[in-house]
Amino acid sequence: MELQKLVNRAIDAKKFALSSYSKFPVGAALLTASGEVYTGCNIESSSYGLTMCAERVALFKALSEGEKSFKAIAIATDVDGFCPPCGACRQVLWDFAKDITVYLVNAQGDHQTLRLSEFFPHAFDDGFLHHD
Ligand code: THU
Repeated sequence: MELQKLVNRAIDAKKFALSSYSKFPVGAALLTASGEVYTGCNIESSSYGLTMCAERVALFKALSEGEKSFKAIAIATDVDGFCPPCGACRQVLWDFAKDITVYLVNAQGDHQTLRLSEFFPHAFDDGFLHHD
């Protein structure tokens, strides 16, 4: 899939953000290895701690439909800088999507390209767990 299309899907997903408490809408578009795109937006609860980030909404939608392999995620916010994913999203993306390409999309629609490992070096993952 063309990069600009993925970026546009993240910008479009941001429109559905339920971010009335923070006023900080986020949209995400996750590209699978087979070329499917799963989108997400942040969903805030009146019990603030129950809020779910856009990235994890997109990832959980994809995982819950049987997707296993991911190529890239675009994350769009309304800030002028390039806003990186939070720590919780970095961990869960690493768990299920490993070192994918991350496109950070700012308010102007410009993007910055990074690998997840650049934000999240020395990651913990299931390789450290003891398995029988
Ligand atoms: N948020 C995301 O959706 N993704 C991130 O990686 C950072 C934070 C959301 C959560 C909350 O709804 C709002 O942004 C402010 O933290």
